[in-house]
Amino acid sequence: MTIAAGKPSMGELQEREHGVGHDYAKGSPHIRHHTVRDRLIGDLHALVHEVIDRNGQCRVVELGAGHGTFTDHLLAAGAQITVTEMSEPSAHLLRHRFQHNPNVTVIHDKDGTAACTAGPFDAVVCISVLHHIPDYLTTVKQLVENTVPGGAFFSAQDPLWYPRRSPLSLGLDRGAYFLWRLGQGHLRRGIATRLRRIRGVYDDMNEADMVEYHVVRNGVDEEALQGLLAPAFAKLEVQRYWSTQSGFMQAVGERVCPPSTFSLVARERRSA
Ligand SMILES: C[S@@+](CC[C@H](N)C(=O)[O-])C[C@H]1O[C@@H](n2cnc3c(N)ncnc32)[C@H](O)[C@@H]1O
Repeated sequence: MTIAAGKPSMGELQEREHGVGHDYAKGSPHIRHHTVRDRLIGDLHALVHEVIDRNGQCRVVELGAGHGTFTDHLLAAGAQITVTEMSEPSAHLLRHRFQHNPNVTVIHDKDGTAACTAGPFDAVVCISVLHHIPDYLTTVKQLVENTVPGGAFFSAQDPLWYPRRSPLSLGLDRGAYFLWRLGQGHLRRGIATRLRRIRGVYDDMNEADMVEYHVVRNGVDEEALQGLLAPAFAKLEVQRYWSTQSGFMQAVGERVCPPSTFSLVARERRSA
């Protein structure tokens, strides 16, 4: 789906949803729940160390860094980082946060193309961001072209491709989300969004529909990503896990629910 002329750009929609004072932790299982967050942080440290061992340095591009929750961990692991943000208020905050750190460069990437040409990089990191990008396969392809031999690609916290999931899996996922939403306020917006989705109607003027782009597009196709990355990297691993906003449903779901979300790591970029 493309957004017609006269409609807000994806950058404007991202900015409305991730504006001044946006709380990135509130709706983010990978920040809120220690089981998900600790694994993610461990994976990032391992990745940076491995790339430094192989390439002698680790120049990372981190797409859609939000307020830099994971930038801190990449830095602690020893990376030099270019962070991109489509939301100007978030880019502004990142610039302020890291203004004295020579190892961080911040780019306000208005249309999502700057990251693809800013390299070369030793590693690409996308955390909870691919599902916001309409043509994520093209973006990933361009990022990989800008990754040097020995480098890596890492993404996490994207919803598994809906058409391969069972009705039970989708139902548990949506039910858990709805329960959490009940306790959050914004109930009217939640119900209106839900009704539009049940009717299959998506409003390209409305950030509630367009920013969470995976609902327009049925999740993120982890197998298409694997197919794209496999020729370029010697090692590839996909991890499927349950994640949801509510702490209670996270704890229960980790034991009994089918996976809803995936992370992916590709290692040892081959020579072109
Ligand atoms: C769900 S938030 C995740 C933020 C951060 N990675 C985290 O996990 O805390 C997604 C972020 O990606 C940004 N974004 C969306 N599409 C983008 C793109 N093509 N390039 C750069 N940033 C993008 C949004 O503005 C938003 O801040």
